[in-house]
Amino acid sequence: MREQGRARDKWNRNSALYDLFTFMEVRGKNAEVRAEMLKETRGRILEVGIGTGHSIAFFPEGSEVVGIDISEKMLCKAKAKTEAQKGRPALLNMDAEKMGFKDNSFDTVVSTCVFCSVPDPVEGLSEIKRVLKPDGRLLMYEHMISRNPLLALMLNAMNPFVSRIMGSNVNRDTVGNIVTAGLRVTRERNVRFFDIFRRIDATH
Ligand SMILES: C[S@@+](CC[C@H](N)C(=O)[O-])C[C@H]1O[C@@H](n2cnc3c(N)ncnc32)[C@H](O)[C@@H]1O
Repeated sequence: MREQGRARDKWNRNSALYDLFTFMEVRGKNAEVRAEMLKETRGRILEVGIGTGHSIAFFPEGSEVVGIDISEKMLCKAKAKTEAQKGRPALLNMDAEKMGFKDNSFDTVVSTCVFCSVPDPVEGLSEIKRVLKPDGRLLMYEHMISRNPLLALMLNAMNPFVSRIMGSNVNRDTVGNIVTAGLRVTRERNVRFFDIFRRIDATH
């Protein structure tokens, strides 16, 4: 739980400048990837680590979305973005590792650049498995450790500094973590920076 407190404090601090530093998330290639991914969402949708709400504008109109985040200050920014939105997402301050939803609650779960930060990613992904319906889909756009040994070496060397300053880890084995959590990867596509940014689909 101390780790959770640290993550919350870091992201509360980051919230002030997050939109400024991540303006590329809603433009160009990133926006394309988000839009393409979120077009595939169906039924009742959960966005884990919704942050300041970069995805909000990309959900299909009229969809039922619940967004959770551990940082109340990130959620505050997301709330401002939902004001103009029809069928606003419900925003909840909640830990991905201990979600307050019943089993099999969602048809689709999405995450973008979150499993680099969740303190225990396998725990968070196991919770996703629990709340995802048996025929539901997990759609992710995440950065992770590269399979290229040289790039991996570089990311491992950078990680202590990046994680301390930014609150995100650049060397997580997110695909391995998905499998360890008991989910099945059904599709994996390299998107940017070699295989560091990947689009992943998973299911039960
Ligand atoms: C890099 S930001 C990404 C935000 C958003 N998904 C985006 O694409 O801009 C990571 C987010 O994950 C959230 N987060 C980290 N650990 C979490 C946890 N255990 N439960 C819920 N949210 C968490 C942070 O508060 C932060 O908002």
